[in-house]
Parts: sequence; structure tokens; C-alpha cells
Amino acid sequence: MTAQLADKVQRSFSRSFDTYHDTASQQAWVADKLVSELRRVGAPGQFHTTFEMGCGTGHLTRMLRQNFDLPDLILNDIAPQAQATADAEAVAFIAGDVRTVQWPDQIDLIASASMIQWMEDPAGLLQQAIDALAPGGWLAVSGFGPQQYKELLSIGSTAHAPGLCGADNLVAAIEGSMRVLAAGERIRPSYFKTPRDVLKYLRRTGVNGRAQGAWTKSTLTRFEEDYVHNFGSANGVSLTYHPVWIIAQKQ
Ligand SMILES: C[S@@+](CC[C@H](N)C(=O)[O-])C[C@H]1O[C@@H](n2cnc3c(N)ncnc32)[C@H](O)[C@@H]1O
Repeated sequence: MTAQLADKVQRSFSRSFDTYHDTASQQAWVADKLVSELRRVGAPGQFHTTFEMGCGTGHLTRMLRQNFDLPDLILNDIAPQAQATADAEAVAFIAGDVRTVQWPDQIDLIASASMIQWMEDPAGLLQQAIDALAPGGWLAVSGFGPQQYKELLSIGSTAHAPGLCGADNLVAAIEGSMRVLAAGERIRPSYFKTPRDVLKYLRRTGVNGRAQGAWTKSTLTRFEEDYVHNFGSANGVSLTYHPVWIIAQKQ
């Protein structure tokens, strides 16, 4: 992630921090999925040192704590407001870009939900995670695949993250250094009454961190017309989510 993009992402998530949690039901689904997959593949009940990257308002944090004993949990986020998540859970917090902050030593579990898509080089971050894991350590990471917000992409919006990648890309990035225990993806459409509701939703969740340029009356009208024309249905207009995830253990 360039410093400029990191600043933009930080500002965008900071702005929407208070409204993010209740509106981000897709991200909540992913956090739930990551934890149920960890359990399904036989993760141990306790991880001594755990590092969560991009904890945000804590969807994954809470799911992890409900399901595992985590005596030394350290959270990270580029948005300083996420300190409140760590305070609520009474755990440590490292503020800043995950790629450049000082990571804990000998980590037993590195977890992250819905953050890696903000990296321009998701494989680079996964390599950093592999290096930081203790032998036998676990990795549980989710991001979003190339179908994410396909509606917006197809009508020319720039509101997409730089590091969208399929489950196969996640597998390719760690194969050789880690034993892959689960990898998957899902296409999950959301429906909204109008395109304007899609835009409002995106603003509330802060996920349009890369949208550029202000709307004019005519570009907005054109956007709304194209959206309804291409993606209108009896349920309203669609917005596609494409969550992808991987669970692996260091060899
Ligand atoms: C879509 S939210 C997901 C939050 C939480 N993990 C969840 O599942 O709800 C993405 C989070 O990643 C954080 N983030 C984005 N880029 C980051 C970076 N370079 N370093 C650390 N955190 C970052 C954002 O501030 C935001 O809180």
C-alpha cells in the first residue's frame, strides 16, 4: 500500500468508524465464517500470542474471544479509533499501518478479516505473517475476491480496493511455507432499494476508501440510471460481495 493510499484508507475508516459496526453485516458474516472454519479444521482451544490485523470495530475480535482462550491478544488497526475496540476487550493495541508497525514475537495465531484487500501486495503481507509466526503457528485471513462490487466496477466507479484476490491467489501466496487447511470463497449479493442507498451504505461502512472525484448532478443521475438498468431486480438493486478466506498452519 502506498503511503498516500494508506492515508486515504485511514481517513475513510476513521470517518465512518461510528456507523461501521451495525451496517457491516457482510463483514460480520465473514468474521463468523473464519472462526467456524478454524474450529472445523481442528484449531486448538488456546493460542498463547495472537495478533489481529485491521481489527476495526471488533467483529472478528469478539468472535475469536468467544471461541478461543487468547491470553495474549494484540490488536492492530490503521484507524486510531480502533483503540476503543482494544479498550473494550481490555487487550493491547498497536496503531498504524500493519506493514510497518513492530509486530509481536513468536505469534501463535495471526488473524484478520476484511482488511487484506486494502494491500496493493496481499501476498507480501502474507509472507510477513508467515515470517512472524512461531513454528506450528496458525493463519486465518479473509479478504475479498475480484467479483467484489462488480456492479460498481462495471459502471465505471473507482470505489474498489487494490488487493482483491481469489482464494487460489491466497493459497498460492503461502503454499510451500504453510499447510493449507481450508480455503474458500462465496458470492453473496446484498440488495438495496435504490442506487442512492448503495452509496449511503458504502459511506457508512467506509469501504469506498478509493472513490475519487465528487458527484455532479448529471454524473449521479447517470450512475443511478445505469445501475437500475443493469442491476435492478424484484429485490431492488444488487451489490455483490465476494468474500475469500484461508486457514493454514506453519510447518
Ligand atoms: C472492512 S474493515 C474490517 C474490520 C474488522 N476486521 C471486521 O471484520 O469488521 C477493514 C479495517 O482494516 C483497517 N485497515 C486498512 N488498511 C490497514 C493497514 N494498512 N493497516 C492496519 N489496518 C488497516 C481499516 O482501518 C479497517 O478498520
